[in-house]
Amino acid sequence: MKKERKLIIAGNWKMNKTVAEALGLVRGLKIELANVKEVDIVVCPPFTALSEVSKAILDSVIRLGAQNMSPNPVGAFTGEIAAVMLKEFSVRYVILGHSERRQYQKESDALIAQKALAAHAASLKPIVCVGETLAEREAGQTEKVLQTQVPGSLAGLTREQVAETIIAYEPVWAIGTGKTATTAQAQQAHAFIRGLLAQLFDESTARRVRIQYGGSVKPANTRELMAQPDVDGALVGGASLEVRSFADIVKNSI
Ligand code: 13P
Repeated sequence: MKKERKLIIAGNWKMNKTVAEALGLVRGLKIELANVKEVDIVVCPPFTALSEVSKAILDSVIRLGAQNMSPNPVGAFTGEIAAVMLKEFSVRYVILGHSERRQYQKESDALIAQKALAAHAASLKPIVCVGETLAEREAGQTEKVLQTQVPGSLAGLTREQVAETIIAYEPVWAIGTGKTATTAQAQQAHAFIRGLLAQLFDESTARRVRIQYGGSVKPANTRELMAQPDVDGALVGGASLEVRSFADIVKNSI
């Protein structure tokens, strides 16, 4: 598939996989995806598996991501993890502002922007998540939500930092529900986000940003979604937990 930007397929394992299970999964992925150069492949295990997974993927095309981090560099923040601690395990990416954290941990756009700044300061690439709920979509507020979340979650970033940020459009109603956005719905939202980036930063920056789609991505719907001009990859939840389905998603995106 010829794309303007290199696709990035990331697996968000959420709160799944013990260390032993995580190793089983990445060892299988390493074999399945040994020769894939066309797309960037990222796995985001829970913090507790980062160390072992990091060692297991050393000699592979798979890169490591974390699922969250503190906006603060060090200090009295019980239960938090700082960017430098992630760097110890060669983490390259960090998911920020996932809708589950926005919902359960009440993360705000302003906090997510602080985390994105801290990630860039440590040379980690943030994957900043945005997306509307079902009630918001049904009320015709998808664009209004994105108009708030996109500038709010990227506040204070330079053009260069934005270009190195990945945005994940994840409509909340499509997460874990088996209901994928239609290709038209995904493309429309992605194009809208890119338009916002052009307004907020500039056209050439907007063209560099990779925008992933997330929400019930499966091997069967990958090809069609990735064929959309503004869809530059996928953030995969459930289907990233098994070798077969995640490997097939990567292969079907090529
Ligand atoms: P599912 O692929 O399970 O719908 O999850 C999507 C997601 O939240 C990825 O971050």
